Amino acid sequence: MLRSALRSFKKNAQHGGCVRRSYCVAPCGAALAFLAVSFAQGQTAPTLKDAYRGLFRIGTAVNAAQFEERDGRGDAIIEAQFNTISPENALKWQSVHPRPDSYNFDLSDRYVAFGERYKMFIVGHCLVWHSQVPQWVFRDVEGKTLTREALLERMHDHIRTVVGRYKGRIGGWDVVNEALSEDGTMRPSPWYKIIGDDYILKAFQFAHEADPSAELYYNDYSLENVAKRKGAVALIRKLKAAGATITGAGLQGHVRIDRPDAQTEAETIEAFAALGIRVNISELDVDVLPRTIRTDSADVSETATGTAQSNPYTSGLTEEMQQRLAKRYAELFGVFVQHHRVMGRVTFWGVTDGDSWLNNFPTRGRTNYPLLFDRDGKPKPAFAAVLEEAKTALRLSWRGAGN
Ligand code: XIL
Repeated sequence: MLRSALRSFKKNAQHGGCVRRSYCVAPCGAALAFLAVSFAQGQTAPTLKDAYRGLFRIGTAVNAAQFEERDGRGDAIIEAQFNTISPENALKWQSVHPRPDSYNFDLSDRYVAFGERYKMFIVGHCLVWHSQVPQWVFRDVEGKTLTREALLERMHDHIRTVVGRYKGRIGGWDVVNEALSEDGTMRPSPWYKIIGDDYILKAFQFAHEADPSAELYYNDYSLENVAKRKGAVALIRKLKAAGATITGAGLQGHVRIDRPDAQTEAETIEAFAALGIRVNISELDVDVLPRTIRTDSADVSETATGTAQSNPYTSGLTEEMQQRLAKRYAELFGVFVQHHRVMGRVTFWGVTDGDSWLNNFPTRGRTNYPLLFDRDGKPKPAFAAVLEEAKTALRLSWRGAGN
């Protein structure tokens, strides 16, 4: 029986683990059997994507040097460890649509080609956002604020063109990013102020129209905070009631070393799963540095000046912090594994610590350690901790089978 499970696992693996556009949210008996065999033989599952195959995909955000294959160290890690990618910046409005009448797909074409070359599930990030969008988007030729109709038309053109170009190739889109304020009300972005609160519904409709089989997500940070989570749940409920196609919620997952706690993370995943949609962790990293501002926000515009105390590990992370980080990752993946049936993927926001945006956010020029691979591309203790957590899936299925 194990042998046939293994055969079917291998076959499954050759197809990238799951059929494209569907989730590998097991309980996939074959994958668990494979894990059981390798663990029983004392082997450590060698890579993240293999360890988690059958549970959910494991991804990373990639930068231009990586998808242009100019970063040998990073590229080797990407190919070995991950089966889904997100573009760190290459598909944002300012990158693909810098001027009113011209699109620039140089980078994004290379991003998508890279994903195809390595048989990745390719994510598009992001269509409608208030950041990294040129200001002309909201103005007419005379510089006056656009009317609702004109902005809707502009949004439609953008979504139709970008999603349409990669139809059938990009598997899932962050349709709207960060539409909510911390209290769960609508963020007063130019999108909201000019179009009104149905801008989100329209964006989902335009995206669905442009690629009816693409997965479509609502993506945001700090959804673990109760007020914001409630706002997002209400928003998604409203979208569904209006007939929108929405496949999943992306919890960005820019977390801190000590919060949110496991219970809160679990409740957040469950709140979105209860809507009948998938939950993805879309931008995971763990900030280990103290902040000089009180907020936990991942709002890219909330910058802060540093102090000597806010950059304590310039010459390396202490062993104690390495271990704390490993425990923190174990805690998070423990929750993800427990909820694997509702989860599509867990994507890290970067490959190595040196790549991370958290070296410059919220304070520029710090030395941060938020990911699983260090600046030399070596796996950190946190990497082993994440691999180890895949085994809890086995324990769960063992118990689930009435043992
Ligand atoms: C970040 C990128 O990592 C940086 O390179 C860029 O300068 C700013 O944006 N939430 C998001 C991502 O949805 O797009 C942001 O990415 C990180 C926060």
